[in-house]
Amino acid sequence: MFINHLKPNTQIYMKWILSACIAIVFGAFIVSMKNSPPQDIQLKTGVFKTGDDASWSSGTFNDAAWGKIDPSKNWEQQGYDNYDGIAWYRFKVTIPSSIKNDAAWKDSLNFSLGQIANSDETYLNGTLIGKTGTFPARGAAPVRGRNTGNVIRNYRIASNNNAILWDKENVLAIRVYNSRGNGGLSSIPVISMLGRITGVKIAYTQNPFVFKDKSISKTITLQNTFATSVAGVLSIKAVNDDNKVVFSSTDAVTLGAMDKKSYNLFFDNSSRTVVEYKFVENGTNNNLTVTETNPYILTPAVGPMPRINGAKIFGIRPGSPFIFKIPATGKLPLTYAVQNLPKGLAVNAQTGVISGVAPAKGEYKMYFIVKNALGQAKREFTVKAGNLLALTPPMGWDSWNAWGLTVSDEKVRSSTNSLLKYGLQNHGWTYMNIDDGWEAPKRADNGEIVPNEKFPDMAGLGEYLHKNGLKFGIYSSPGPTTCGGYLASYQHEAQDAASYAKWGIDYLKYDLCSYRTIMAGDTTLAGAQKPYFVMRDQLVKQNRDIVYSLCQYGGKDVWTWGRKVNGNLWRTTGDINDSWGSLFNIGFVQQEKTTPYTAPGSWNDPDMLIIGYVGWGNQHNTRLTPDEQYTHISLWSILSAPLLLGCDLSKLDPFTLNLITNDEVIAVDQDPKASPAKRIVKTADYEVWVKDLEDGSKAVGLFNISAATNTININWKALGITGNYNIRDIWRQKNLPKSATGFSSVVPSHGVRLVKISKI
Ligand code: GAL
Repeated sequence: MFINHLKPNTQIYMKWILSACIAIVFGAFIVSMKNSPPQDIQLKTGVFKTGDDASWSSGTFNDAAWGKIDPSKNWEQQGYDNYDGIAWYRFKVTIPSSIKNDAAWKDSLNFSLGQIANSDETYLNGTLIGKTGTFPARGAAPVRGRNTGNVIRNYRIASNNNAILWDKENVLAIRVYNSRGNGGLSSIPVISMLGRITGVKIAYTQNPFVFKDKSISKTITLQNTFATSVAGVLSIKAVNDDNKVVFSSTDAVTLGAMDKKSYNLFFDNSSRTVVEYKFVENGTNNNLTVTETNPYILTPAVGPMPRINGAKIFGIRPGSPFIFKIPATGKLPLTYAVQNLPKGLAVNAQTGVISGVAPAKGEYKMYFIVKNALGQAKREFTVKAGNLLALTPPMGWDSWNAWGLTVSDEKVRSSTNSLLKYGLQNHGWTYMNIDDGWEAPKRADNGEIVPNEKFPDMAGLGEYLHKNGLKFGIYSSPGPTTCGGYLASYQHEAQDAASYAKWGIDYLKYDLCSYRTIMAGDTTLAGAQKPYFVMRDQLVKQNRDIVYSLCQYGGKDVWTWGRKVNGNLWRTTGDINDSWGSLFNIGFVQQEKTTPYTAPGSWNDPDMLIIGYVGWGNQHNTRLTPDEQYTHISLWSILSAPLLLGCDLSKLDPFTLNLITNDEVIAVDQDPKASPAKRIVKTADYEVWVKDLEDGSKAVGLFNISAATNTININWKALGITGNYNIRDIWRQKNLPKSATGFSSVVPSHGVRLVKISKI
């Protein structure tokens, strides 16, 4: 049938070959085809250049002077740090006509390029064969198109397309545009013919697991995306970490053209389990196999006894409005009291919100007391009235990773209501931050900034948050416009800071964006600092505390001077996205140089959390595996990173809740000592990171960064300690056997074992 799609002369040629095959080598040929999958050609290395020139698409362009590139990693991971703009990849490849031999469908050639951040145009020997996303006009300013970074590129062209040079050297040239975060390819491009199995897809990520009591269930779909039928066997097998099969099923199935069939699976969710979905095609025995890990829950349920959580210290300027909600859990109702509460402050016994006016300069020690019918909890708390804010890393929510530019008052309120409903404030989650997209296109006649129609009452929103013991964050840029093209603070800094104070703002994220045009090539340190000093001078004049979050993607090693401009936190890299590549690069590769600068009130910000239902306005469940999500929260906690949720809080599932309500893990992040994290072991397969805690113990993270399960050992010598130590698994909140020598654990791919060790 496929022969009919080809040009007439090719049809005659192919029909001749087919009949010759049938007549001469029928038996032997069919047998040799049987078990051999279609050949794939992998393009493991290419050359790369930033910039843009139309001639770089050509097959004959001389690229000898270009740098080598590994397409499996973004360009940021290969020396093109924070590069935003257009760049080109070129791959040389011989495409042997022999790859047609084993292919079931010989009429098309497939180019699988994986995900590309963000837009691409792909050329074969100068001919455009595929394009996804948008590009700025040549020489023009960046465009903000739809985020197509997650789209898997599969470009197909006919086998008789003149662009293909069969049995000769071809050049695959890929023009890529990226305007924020990691850029470029992230997997090895593969060229292949189409096999019968190529049209089969197993859709398993679309429907998330559904939680019910202690079990989970989900529906997956087997799809035939080709216009011919395909037959085979689909098997599903779920095996837990104790090697027990907790679910299995097989089905012999024939799918007609474009047909699909759904399957349900369910199993007990109390241990880590790997589910394999495997389709074996009858004719060739080729198989399509994908696996996923269940969203297994480690955090124990909150106990009925009162327990006080979150930060143990709080910084404020004397005379500023004071709001602090005592984070506590336990069977309701809880009542709250504070011993030694400084004058000018009062605690609401029912809500636990302390409010009033901050006392004079000094250090105030007090006790929080939280009671319920079962008992009481008591914990020391220190207020430091002085110049420093954010004495522990800010925790809360920011609209960007969830809603992108579509944020609105309604969405902030709905996320706030969910936060309150799930009791996240009782674990220390406090800030509700509006990111980009809130400003009207024009200032008022007197020059004041005006919110757009999506935010009818900023002061009202502030009041609502404060009433619930929460804090209010906002976003702007020192340039004329924000990254999203909204109005920003350039030359209106004094007015904007005053407006923020009037609305009850407690936190400002100040994002460089268009200020780069004002800098006009000034690459000096003073030039980088200037806009942040200008806004600093206005913020300190306000009669309220505004935590200052610098966002300039790590330029001029901001961690070495962020504190000088009164910054409380500063982004250390470009934007994060919900992929292992991004998490790995930002968390493991880029942070080590910044950690020595961690101190109370001075936090390196490796960007917001990428767990839960994220999407930058294009909502989906995070693409991180459950193990990667445990790694994310564990590493961010060891790094003392600000913890800002970036998901739609109205869609929190039990797994995400388990990630963000583990008080022992959060305590590592919020530890008052703010001791810099240290990487004490680094191999190609795993890393061990350590943070000293205030009580003399150490938080130790054993991270498996490889693609396979690994056993990771850490001996006390490497930690610089001797003697007998208690070991506690912090996620499971369980003590492990003590040791006088060290600790060892099997850790799944991209997963973590987080323990706290303390001297006996
Ligand atoms: C980026 C920033 C993001 C987000 C966005 C808004 O520059 O890094 O976190 O704020 O701008 O447009």
